[in-house]
Amino acid sequence: MKRKVILKYVVIAGALILIGQQTTLATPTAKMLAYTCAGCHGTNGASNGPAIPSLAGLSKPYLVESMESYKDGSRVSTIMDRIAKGYSKKEFELMGDFFAKQKVHKISKQKFNKASAKAGKKLHNKYCKKCHESGGTNPEDDAGQLLGNARLYLEYTFEDLTDKSRSMDKKMTKKMKKMLKKDPKASVKLIDYYSKGEK
Ligand code: HEC
Ligand code: HEC
Repeated sequence: MKRKVILKYVVIAGALILIGQQTTLATPTAKMLAYTCAGCHGTNGASNGPAIPSLAGLSKPYLVESMESYKDGSRVSTIMDRIAKGYSKKEFELMGDFFAKQKVHKISKQKFNKASAKAGKKLHNKYCKKCHESGGTNPEDDAGQLLGNARLYLEYTFEDLTDKSRSMDKKMTKKMKKMLKKDPKASVKLIDYYSKGEK
């Protein structure tokens, strides 16, 4: 149900979707393409939160794959499916080149519970660190950004992953299950840790 909340944030930027679908430009440059994302994802992909994830510093393979799965509908979304449909694979690659060159951005001053964030850090190191290094800020993992990403985005992403509306890595599924069995409130703790944005 969080998705309705997300729409509140993206409606303002609605006009930009039209730009996204205007692929009449002969050969748009990577920068021109990335510019169409800025209205929602922030300048050069550095999001201000709370609902929209950062793109800055995401690896090229992760970004291209995300866009492809939004486009073919295999990854659940509120708005990205429509946006992704306006671009070709070649354009996804250009966007990937552009965002991979930007520095990873951590959103500052998000809400989090201190004690819970501390517990979340422990959980992360135990169950998630192997594939999400440096709190999930190492682009080389090809696994998105966790620490310092937008809180509301993280909340609905966890919801989608745990109710299986978004598929996930098989080994990650196992770890997630194991963790939630031991600690049913683990997700909130992790989200507090990631929202705090510090290692
Ligand atoms: C109208 C607002 C809006 C615009 C414009 C927009 N996005 Fe998004 N983007 C979102 C939202 C909201 C999400 C979260 C998924 C969802 O609910 O659709 C998202 C998620 C993503 C993700 C997933 C990030 C992750 O960490 O997994 C990628 C990648 C992405 N967008 C790329 C782009 C690119 C590239 C552009 C420009 C071509 C773009 N977006 C333009 C709103 C937007
Ligand atoms: C075996 C490796 C592995 C482990 C362990 C793992 N992950 Fe992942 N995770 C991935 C990969 C690969 C992706 C990106 C591709 C995908 O969506 O499947 C990902 C994506 C994610 C995303 C989506 C990121 C985004 O920006 O949308 C979240 C959230 C996440 N993982 C959380 C966790 C948490 C929390 C744990 C620990 C309980 C964990 N992962 C453990 C491999 C792993």
